[in-house]
Amino acid sequence: VKADVAIVGAGVIGLSLAWELRRRELAVVVVEKGEPGREASHAAGGMLAWCDDQLPAPLVPLAELSAKLYPEFVREIEATSGVSVDLRTHGTIVFDHGEPQLRQVACRRLTAKELVELEPDIQPVSQNIQYWQEASVDPRILTQALAKAAKHRGAHVAHGEPALALETQAGRVTGVKTERALFSAPIVVNCGGAWAAQLSTPLDPTPSPTRPVKGQMLALVSREGRTGADARASIVRHVVRTPEVYIIPRSDGRIVIGATVEEAGFDKRTDAATIQRLHRSAADVVPELAHARIHETWAGLRPGSPDNLPILGATSLPGYFVATGHYRDGIMLAPATACLVAKTICGEPLEYDLSRFSCSRFATWGGFPVCRAI
Ligand code: GLY
Repeated sequence: VKADVAIVGAGVIGLSLAWELRRRELAVVVVEKGEPGREASHAAGGMLAWCDDQLPAPLVPLAELSAKLYPEFVREIEATSGVSVDLRTHGTIVFDHGEPQLRQVACRRLTAKELVELEPDIQPVSQNIQYWQEASVDPRILTQALAKAAKHRGAHVAHGEPALALETQAGRVTGVKTERALFSAPIVVNCGGAWAAQLSTPLDPTPSPTRPVKGQMLALVSREGRTGADARASIVRHVVRTPEVYIIPRSDGRIVIGATVEEAGFDKRTDAATIQRLHRSAADVVPELAHARIHETWAGLRPGSPDNLPILGATSLPGYFVATGHYRDGIMLAPATACLVAKTICGEPLEYDLSRFSCSRFATWGGFPVCRAI
């Protein structure tokens, strides 16, 4: 199989990049070890948390670019795939977010009275209540829609094909090998998420040093158990965040609750006590949720890097690029990442300097103390 660009990993980052590169009419193949969008993207909450002033400073320009790109990104993907990705723009209610900074125009304080008017079922558990004008998507539907849209525009997605090694010739990358095939391409981009580090290169063993950071989550449905278009009005409409928990309503009636942050290797098991704790924390702020039924529990593996910032751009191996390590913000940062990495690959001018995210910052890095092989 021959392409202009081979992307390793069909999560939200790999698929968004494939989509962006197809807009530039490059021949794209995406090589995925399992099914598209079934790892971290499937587990994610889908909060587009661009107002969060606790976002690491280097991420702010990327978050701002994503906030600008998201409406059109969603509109085009929905139009091409025919799938609605449940973009919800009610906003986020945030409790006890330290001293309110409110430097964003899109954020304001709420009184307890205003809160009750917005969300009668939420307890004003503290005086420090803020409203952030953020959005959310259903990441599972988003990645399925992206895969469909990218394929519709001509991207080839080869799934069930773990990438085993990079092919190189005369000091530059020439493709990627799986057990069954060689995908020849002068450009390879590693979007392998928590698995990115497993594709080492002969010249540079650490261009994408990611590790899995486990997050356990659950989804509730009201006792009536109805989901789908006829579900009764959800218990909450806004995303709700406290220091202990976040609550993300979906339009089909599910209410997603997360999440733990655990260094547990490639372990995706959930445990009942942790799920109960998350459920209780959610019910502390929305008491009605105590009576809601647990519809699903799961855990996913966020791709953390040594400094938990993304790893983006060229590597020391000509033709080999990286777009991974998005840690807790992959869904939010997907459009900005796709836009900036596609421009880097195509040699177009960039609105933001990506050198802060270069893998070269790990040149002298000695390995994760907690990382273990699968
Ligand atoms: N972005 C949500 C999480 O990492 O839990």
